[in-house]
Amino acid sequence: MLPEITERILSQIPDSIKLTTDDIKILHDNKQFVLDREDVIFERFFDILLNFEPTKNVFKEGEVPIVMNVFKRWLKITLSSEFNDEYWQWQTFVGLVHIKRGVTNNVFISMLSVVTEMLVEEVTSNVPNEAGVPILKAWLKLSRTLGALISESYRIFYLKAVEEVTSIDEKLLNRISILAIDNLLKDNQNFRI
Ligand code: HEM
Repeated sequence: MLPEITERILSQIPDSIKLTTDDIKILHDNKQFVLDREDVIFERFFDILLNFEPTKNVFKEGEVPIVMNVFKRWLKITLSSEFNDEYWQWQTFVGLVHIKRGVTNNVFISMLSVVTEMLVEEVTSNVPNEAGVPILKAWLKLSRTLGALISESYRIFYLKAVEEVTSIDEKLLNRISILAIDNLLKDNQNFRI
C-alpha cells in the first residue's frame, strides 16, 4: 500500500518542477556545508517547538534528544540520498508516524519552512550568489517533494483509517464527503472574493 501511495503522490507533482539529477548532485556536493550547521539548525528547531505549549506536548518525557538524533540522521541520509523509491517511501511513512504522534500538517509544514529559512540565512551569508542560488533552488525542490509526500500521506492514511473503522470504502466516503462539502461551501459563500 505504501509504495502505491508514494507513487500516486509523486505522480501528482509536475515533471517540470521535480528534483533533477543536477539538483541531486548539488545537494550531495554541499552536504558538508549543511551538516556543519546541523546542531544550530536542530537546536533552533527544538527551541521553537519546546517553547510553545501545543508542540511541546508532542514529546514524551526524556524523548527530545532521541527525536533530535532521528532528525539529524534523517538530514544526513537525505543529503546523501539517491532519491530512489525506498527513500521516497520512507518519507511517505513519516506521514503515518506524524498522525500517531499528533503532528498535524500545518505544524509540520511550518517547521519545514523554518528549516528552509535557516538554510537561506546560512547560504546567503556564506556562499556567493552564483553558487548559493542553485543550492537553495535544489533544497526548495527537495523540500516541496517532502512536503507533498508527508502531508498528503497524512491525509490519505487518515482516510484509510476512517475507511477501516467505518467499513465505508474510499469512493463512497469521497462521494458522501463531497455532499457535505457542498453544504459547507453554501454556508460560507460570504467569504468568496
Ligand atoms: C522539517 C519537518 C519535519 C520532518 C522532515 C520530519 C521528519 C521525520 C522523520 C524522518 C521521522 C522518523 C520516521 C522514522 O521513524 O523513520 C519523524 C518522526 C517524528 N517526528 Fe517529524 N518531521 C518534521 C517535523 C516534525 C515536527 C514539527 C514535530 C513535532 C511537533 C515532529 C515530531 C516527530 C516525532 C515525535 C516523531 C517520532 C520519533 C520517533 O518515535 O522515532 N516532526 N519525523
